[in-house]
Amino acid sequence: MSTTAPNPESAAPLTTIRDIGQHEGESVQLRGWLYNLRESGKLLFPIFRDGSGTIQGIVPKAAVPPEVFETIKNLTLESSVTVTGKVRADKRAPSGYELDVENIDVTQRVPDDQPFPITLKEHGPDFLMERRHLWMRTPRQSAILRIRATIMRAAQEFFDTQDFVRTDPPILTPAACEGTSELFEMKYFDEGNAYLTQSGQLYIEATALALGKVYSFGPTFRAEKSKTRRHLTEFWMIEPEVAYAGLDDLMQLAENFLAHIVTRVLETHRGDLKTITGSDDKAARLEKIQAPFPRLSYDDAHKMLEEAHAKGLIENPHTYGDDFGAPDETYISNQFDRPVMVHRYPAEVKAFYMQPDPQDPTKALCVDVLAPEGYGEIIGGSQRIDSYDLLKQRILDHNLPLESFEWYLDLRKYGSVPHSGFGMGIERCVAWVCGLEHVRETIPFARTLNRIYP
Ligand code: 4AD
Ligand code: MG
Repeated sequence: MSTTAPNPESAAPLTTIRDIGQHEGESVQLRGWLYNLRESGKLLFPIFRDGSGTIQGIVPKAAVPPEVFETIKNLTLESSVTVTGKVRADKRAPSGYELDVENIDVTQRVPDDQPFPITLKEHGPDFLMERRHLWMRTPRQSAILRIRATIMRAAQEFFDTQDFVRTDPPILTPAACEGTSELFEMKYFDEGNAYLTQSGQLYIEATALALGKVYSFGPTFRAEKSKTRRHLTEFWMIEPEVAYAGLDDLMQLAENFLAHIVTRVLETHRGDLKTITGSDDKAARLEKIQAPFPRLSYDDAHKMLEEAHAKGLIENPHTYGDDFGAPDETYISNQFDRPVMVHRYPAEVKAFYMQPDPQDPTKALCVDVLAPEGYGEIIGGSQRIDSYDLLKQRILDHNLPLESFEWYLDLRKYGSVPHSGFGMGIERCVAWVCGLEHVRETIPFARTLNRIYP
């Protein structure tokens, strides 16, 4: 009974669960896997999945040849199958359709003595992460990965359609980019040490001065021993960089960028959002994500936290001059129904390359975009120092090796201009859009402090 689909003898066209609505009343073939099986007397209710969604099949004993009924009745979960059946609209079905099964072809039957390890009962996160290669087959996990792909496509599309040139920075680098986080180090032939990049920013400042508007999109690495639900050691960052742009231009770019991503997700993933969160609330919240977003200075954010502390709404007071902790960010973002752009942090808590605010040079012309519902920072960006002397001074003040930054300083020697850019971590964005507890579910194979398998 083992064949590769589609069966050429069958007249039924091959389709996917996502597109099955185009075939109402017709017989179709689906290639996929058995996700679940219920039995009720002389009726079988197999649920099939094919990567684009799930659909329930109905198999009345009297309606199909006996061998088809027996095959399905004895089928093990996650066996691979090609199923033929007639598409019937059903308002109660999550996908809107059910399949009246006519035939089935089993490609590989999962052996009875080695059943699929992930069942419908609750499993702990360690059990699931250890079996991530299988866990991703479940409807919720596949829905997250589909939304991730749409977010990545929408993010690139936003820049591509506005004439940004994609320029990919190196992943192996000779020096740090973000002084504020740790590096993965390795030996690099006879050249000394190399590091996995933390951000492509410094390199795309060079490409921006060559091409005007650029972006990079690729994996980045952070080696701090952090175990928070927002931290991955390897994550994907998309970073635009724009010559002649200031902080206000950057904030406009960031709000339009996020609004575009959310619009694209809502266009095709309402069903996925419901699969993930169990309700339509998330989609309703995402509808509100439209530019303009509120802007809040660091000073005003601090005042907001002081008042909240005085009223007993947050436990610990915020110290003026410090960065915001996760509970601070949660409180601030909960005051708004869309992402809030917190700008002009104290220069001391931020990276060396940020342009000081001319109105108050102790502040940096920077912005962190905090997502609603306590998701915290999803975008960080700034205007960059364009003065050669000031930038050199900052490199020295931060005890960074000047020789590694000669090329970076050159950018301030030859036609320096004000320029700005930001970085968004795809996984933080996916966690917010999908309403997830932890970033480990936002990427096919998460890399965290104590996990590098599978
Ligand atoms: O705020 P960060 O560190 O900024 C930069 O790296 C700048 N050089 C970007 C730029 O201006 N071009 O990181 C940017 C974003 C964060 O807002 C967050 O979304 C994500 O990258 N990020 C992480 N995501 C997952 N795990 C981590 N450990 C992350 N660290 C940062
Ligand atoms: Mg940051």
